[in-house]
Parts: sequence; C-alpha cells; structure tokens
Amino acid sequence: MAPRVVLLPGDGIGPEITASATEVLNAVGAGLDYDERPFGGASIDAYGSALSDETLNACRQADAVLLAAVGGPKWDTTDPDMPRPEQGLLGLRKGLGLFANLRPVKPIPALYDASPLKREVIERTDLLVVRELTGGIYFGAKTRTEDRASDDCVYTRAEIERIARVAFNTARSRVTSVDKANVLETSRLWRAVVREIHGREYPNIELEHLLVDNAAMRLVAAPRHFEVILTENMFGDILSDEAAMLTGSIGMLPSASLGDRKPGLFEPVHGSAPDIAGTGQANPLAMILSAAMLLRHGLGMEAQAAAVESAVERALAEGLRTPDLGGTANTKEATRAILQHL
Ligand code: NAD
Ligand code: IPM
Ligand code: MN
Repeated sequence: MAPRVVLLPGDGIGPEITASATEVLNAVGAGLDYDERPFGGASIDAYGSALSDETLNACRQADAVLLAAVGGPKWDTTDPDMPRPEQGLLGLRKGLGLFANLRPVKPIPALYDASPLKREVIERTDLLVVRELTGGIYFGAKTRTEDRASDDCVYTRAEIERIARVAFNTARSRVTSVDKANVLETSRLWRAVVREIHGREYPNIELEHLLVDNAAMRLVAAPRHFEVILTENMFGDILSDEAAMLTGSIGMLPSASLGDRKPGLFEPVHGSAPDIAGTGQANPLAMILSAAMLLRHGLGMEAQAAAVESAVERALAEGLRTPDLGGTANTKEATRAILQHL
C-alpha cells in the first residue's frame, strides 16, 4: 500500500513551496498517497479554528505529515480570545506527541559565499539542533488581564530525560546542552537531569553546558565547535533561526519533529514569509529538504532521500540561487533545477 502523507500547505508562501515539494517527491518515485488539508490561517477561515479535529485525526492515521508554514497579517492579533494560526501548529505537535525537533545545519559548500559570515568561519560546519518541542514556556499556563500577563515555563524530569536521550543517541562525540541555569530554575533542573543521564547512560560522549547567551555568540563565532546542541523549546527556536544564516538563508533549513511513534511531522524552519507570498520568489529548498527528511525519518526511504539531497546540492553547485541567496531564480525555476538533477 502506498504510504499516506497528510499535506498541510498552510498560509503565505506555504502553498507555493508545497507544490515544489510534491513535484520532487513524485519525480523521485516515492509513490505517496496525499491527503491535503487546510491548516493554520486557512483553517481558521474554513472552520474557525487553526487545527480541526478531522485534520488532527487524519494526521494521527497518516504515515507522515508534511507541513509548510502558517501565519500572516490577516490573523495577527493581540486579543487572547481570537484564534491564531500558530495555535494549530502547537496543537499538532502536542497532539502527535512530537517532543523532539531535529534541525540539521550543514552549510552546502556551493553556498559558503552566500552567507553573511566569512567562509573560513562556516566551512565544514555540521551541527544538529535538538530542540525540545512540547514543553517549556510554549505550553505553560498563560494569564492576561488589562495590565498584567504571564507565561509559565515548566519542565518535568521525564520531559528532559527523553529529549536528552535523543541528543546523546544522535551524537558521535559531543553534546552541548544549552540553558540559562544562572537564572532559571527550569534550567537548573535541565542541567542536573542532563548530567545524570549522561553519567549513567552515555559516559563515552563528551557533555558540555553553555549558557544560552554565550551559545548564541559562539554559534556565529565558531560554529564548527558544535556537534549536537541540546536545548529547550524557546532557546531552540531562536538559536535555529540564527544558525540558519550559516547556510546562507532561513530558506535553506529543514526540520523533523518526532515522537515515540509514527507519524513524524516534517517542516521547514522558516515561516510563511508574508512579505514575499504570492510573488513567486520563495526559496523552496528548505521545504524540499524537509520532504527528504520525511522520506528518511518518516518512511525509511533512505535512497530516495539521498537522491533529493544530492539533486539540491548539484543544482546549487551549478549556480541555482533564489533572491534570498543573492540570485534571481524564482520558485518554479528553482524547482525545475532540482528536478533536472534528480
Ligand atoms: P518568516 O520565517 O516567515 O520570515 C522571515 C524573513 O525570511 C522574511 O523576510 C521572509 O521573506 C524570509 N523568508 C522566510 N522563508 C523564506 C523562503 N523560503 N524563501 C525566501 N525568503 C524566506 O518569519 P516571520 O516573518 O517572523 O513570520 C511570519 C509568519 O510566519 C508569522 O505569522 C509567524 O508566526 C509564522 N511562522 C510560522 C512558522 C511555521 O509555520 N513553522 C515558523 C516561523 C514563523
Ligand atoms: C518554528 C516557529 C514556531 C515555533 C511558531 C510559528 C509557533 O517559529 O517552528 O520555529 O516557535 O515553534
Ligand atoms: Mn521559529
């Protein structure tokens, strides 16, 4: 039976880059069965909520979920009682139990000079951000009155243990755990639990702890230092956008969100880019590389995943550049360039 993939194009540039990804998936012979659903702002418009029960159930029954991005000015509001597109994304991650977000950052040599950072700084960088995705300040209780607001940041031992194991299991030699243990109680528990798991289960992997402000600085000063960055939900969100610039553009960074069981969710790190939506200028590569992660981590199709990644690398080596990378190729031309190299 063909693997079933739920497609969530979402908002802004989402539909444009989803079309690129499905073209590539079809061309690589993945033989997938798609079930496309409105999500985020599109779902608010259709059903009044960013994630409908039907869509969540369809995702639960799928073999994998491919998401582009949600959000946009149409649904931007500071009113706590109005629905927001981003609630759909958080609800989906929580609803599918996707506690581990893997964000690989490996600049492609052809793009070394497309980064605002110096080539000698970024060369041979190959790191993985392991971001905790269903806890922390994103999911704690929220309060809001006219004059006061609060967001609780909560982590339990079990939540820290399971994400720490993901980081140690993927590391070859070093894990850098990033926290704010000089200020936050959650970070002090984080540090203590990571240390315990390390000592008990992974003594052969090197563990270091960095404070998040220092980590943000080191990430652009000496990115080669990092192999696996293990961190909580919000720090991982911020550090991964920063790390994207090592690859030349936020339009290059894919991710996989995984739990204990199928399905995984595969999504670019960037958002719906409302400023360029509808112009045909979006870089589809983060989305196409997310589709490759879906093939590998979601469906076990390693050969097809590698074929997509290698087509991306060769197209870039031959000069493919979208505007975010300093070039002029539009979304369709970029997609065609990848297809030619498949
Ligand atoms: P963004 O990532 O959408 O855009 C930031 C900048 O990067 C913009 O200038 C944009 O044009 C550019 N950019 C992003 N992706 C690009 C691509 N593929 N090709 C070329 N340029 C690209 O972040 P933002 O502007 O802060 O947020 C816009 C909306 O997206 C917000 O509603 C936010 O909540 C949402 N968002 C959603 C996701 C998601 O669905 N996973 C992720 C991040 C932000
Ligand atoms: C991301 C996004 C989301 C996050 C938002 C849209 C909720 O920024 O996937 O990085 O903060 O996790
Ligand atoms: Mn983000």
